[in-house]
Amino acid sequence: SFAVMHLSVAAVLISLVSFANAFTRNDFPPNFLFGAGTSAYQVEGAANEDGRKPSIWDTFAYAGNAGQFEGNGDIACDQYHKYKDDVKLMAKMGLDAYRFSISWSRLIPDGKGPINPKGLQYYNNLINELTSQGIQPHVTLHHWDLPQALEDEYLGWVSRRIIKDFTAYADVCFKEFGDRVKYWTTVNEGNGGAIAGYGSGFLPPQRCSLSSIYNCSKGNSSTEPYLAAHHMLLAHASAARLYRKKYQVKQQGFIGFNLIVFGLIPLTNTREDIIATQRAKDFYIGWFMNPLTFGEYPSTMKKNVGSRLPFFTSRESNLVKGSIDFLGVNFYNTFYIKDNPGSLQKKNRDHMADMAAEIKPYSGNGTYTYEFPVIPWILQGMLQLMKNDFGNFPIYLHEIGQQTRRNSSLDDWSRVKYMHEYIGGVLDMLRSGLNIRGYFVWAFLDVFELLNGLERSFGLYYVHFEDPSLRRQPKLSAAWYSNFLNNKSIDS
Ligand code: NOJ
Repeated sequence: SFAVMHLSVAAVLISLVSFANAFTRNDFPPNFLFGAGTSAYQVEGAANEDGRKPSIWDTFAYAGNAGQFEGNGDIACDQYHKYKDDVKLMAKMGLDAYRFSISWSRLIPDGKGPINPKGLQYYNNLINELTSQGIQPHVTLHHWDLPQALEDEYLGWVSRRIIKDFTAYADVCFKEFGDRVKYWTTVNEGNGGAIAGYGSGFLPPQRCSLSSIYNCSKGNSSTEPYLAAHHMLLAHASAARLYRKKYQVKQQGFIGFNLIVFGLIPLTNTREDIIATQRAKDFYIGWFMNPLTFGEYPSTMKKNVGSRLPFFTSRESNLVKGSIDFLGVNFYNTFYIKDNPGSLQKKNRDHMADMAAEIKPYSGNGTYTYEFPVIPWILQGMLQLMKNDFGNFPIYLHEIGQQTRRNSSLDDWSRVKYMHEYIGGVLDMLRSGLNIRGYFVWAFLDVFELLNGLERSFGLYYVHFEDPSLRRQPKLSAAWYSNFLNNKSIDS
């Protein structure tokens, strides 16, 4: 039949691709983790089931967002009901680890107060299923889906009140799941969430005032991204202190934070663009890494943002400093940076204007390409720079993956090429002394995406969303990854 022929052709091609590999799983340190990831709102579905209450992401999706997005996560991949089958697929694929997030409003529907027993049961079931298959759970506590109740009560991350509620939520997670979960990430893409949720407006809670694209007026793009980031850092640090005091010795786990790291390169070799690129690194990465490493914001930010940048008291500074055991890095895209000093003259300035730099597409003809460029040396450069600036702590590549259009072929060669080159690149990076500990493909399966809902796809597995069974079908990339992972003991 066509399907069988198709598969065998694919199998021959895969073996050719892996034959062309200059490396195997065995070239990596034995404890290096290969995994894949998802996040709660993007896969679970069952949004209104078993006591879960809405998060800001539900609200964002229901609002339809000016017609630019489609659908919502009410059903998504229905992993809430299908987790056993999904974990089987993960085990078959040979994953060492699965990165997922907990839906705060499933576990604690109002954001604070009583625990939802069905939510607790679900995460216990998922974790037990994973560990019984020998797959390590790597858990994120906040992946952009803040309980709507906390947004309604005090504007969520904009308020300091989040620190206490986040810490109490983290406490429940450590206590209930920490016997089996050894890797905790407090916040996913703190920098992305702060900029896009409170500045440019394309992430929940879509508070912004200066966006040229989104019609949002309820926020303040000049101040709120900085406030949200500040409270993410303080909430993280408070949860980390609690973990270290109360759980770490007994549970023997680790706690970290996650950032999106773009490849950033100067548009020209002029001194201005080179300095602007340094400034962009401060504004995107140093914004969080300086406090986490040195207890204060980068001086370029203090200078350009002025009194709109919150400050740490010395007690807070000591709390934030050194509060990560590892850093989670999400890496996708690369941009050119061009100096733009004029933006500092603007009256109402957002993050980008404060940065005094423009970002430009990397592709040669000046337009954004749908698929991301494959440039392992840029990732290497960014990680090397972070090592030089902030120290040699462990890095987990928490998300790295290629974007294709959902209805493109299941023979996703561009994703195979992307994985092949980045995994090979990571091996070189390890050999050059970078402290990378794991590589998690985004995403294990096609999920409900931030932009354009189901139109963009990152998955190793295709999900038949139009079919009520939500059947999963491996793409070529799933076969390639599995082939790579299962080779791991070939010559041992
Ligand atoms: C980063 C986010 O963490 C994840 O939720 C999203 O789906 C991917 N990028 C791809 O857009």
